[in-house]
Amino acid sequence: MSRDSTRKVLSVAFALCVVCSILVSAAAVGLRERQERNKVDEKKKNILQAAGLYETGIPVEDQFSKIQTRIVDLQSGQFSHDFDAATFDSRSSARDPETRYQIPSDLDLAAIKRRSRYQDVYLVMADDALQQIILPVHGKGLWSTMYGFISLGNDFSTVNGFAFYEHGETPGLGGEIDNPAWKKQWPGKKIYDDAGNIRIEVLKGAVDKSSENAIYQADGLAGATLTARGVGNLLKYWLGDNGYKPFLETLKKEGLKQ
Ligand SMILES: Cc1cc2nc3c(=O)[nH]c(=O)nc-3n(C[C@H](O)[C@H](O)[C@H](O)COP(=O)(O)O)c2cc1C
Repeated sequence: MSRDSTRKVLSVAFALCVVCSILVSAAAVGLRERQERNKVDEKKKNILQAAGLYETGIPVEDQFSKIQTRIVDLQSGQFSHDFDAATFDSRSSARDPETRYQIPSDLDLAAIKRRSRYQDVYLVMADDALQQIILPVHGKGLWSTMYGFISLGNDFSTVNGFAFYEHGETPGLGGEIDNPAWKKQWPGKKIYDDAGNIRIEVLKGAVDKSSENAIYQADGLAGATLTARGVGNLLKYWLGDNGYKPFLETLKKEGLKQ
């Protein structure tokens, strides 16, 4: 190959690289707003799915109109009015020195070390009456932090739906937390007994349906006991005294007008 043609090849390759990088950067910048919008829509879709309200073919925004987003101060167990619920992000709030809460290690059942003092919660309303409350939860599985939503009925104990929308567990093992067959066991389970003690647990193995405790128990995952244990632990944490429980008790006593 002559020197001329070598130079030509290199110039063409360089020009191609410049053009491609301009195109990629322009696409990244141009699509950023759409990506953000899709992310918000995806979160709303997951919330609707946890509540059993998601319908395909109807814009997510329209379906979400029956849901109110509120911010809860987990320390006081009351609603907080200090944030814009539409833009509040509990993950960045958990990193912010002003709002983060370091979980004492003996209480850290979800193995997350810290969380935000404030959490977004979602209220499903019908004729001004609360029907369901959807709570974000997260905690460590075997390989990853698993993020999900749990929806409770207006007794604040009966599960309407529970689903994870982000995790890195192994497909076919821990990843079975996404299996519709596993998820469909959750509606109807109870979190608390009549005395208010947290009772929900994920077993190693299957629930004995004839047991009086079956209402508080979910089947484990064969070959993925560590992920299943993580799910049970994160529920115990988030629905316990260091999580949403004080807020749910306030809600039960005082209703929405706190
Ligand atoms: C490649 C690989 C991936 C695995 N992924 C998971 C997982 O995602 N979740 C899990 O609990 N166990 C996973 N395991 C299995 C765990 O190491 C452990 O054996 C299992 O959780 C024990 O559950 P069992 O008592 O039901 O068998 C994986 C194992 C291997 C070799």
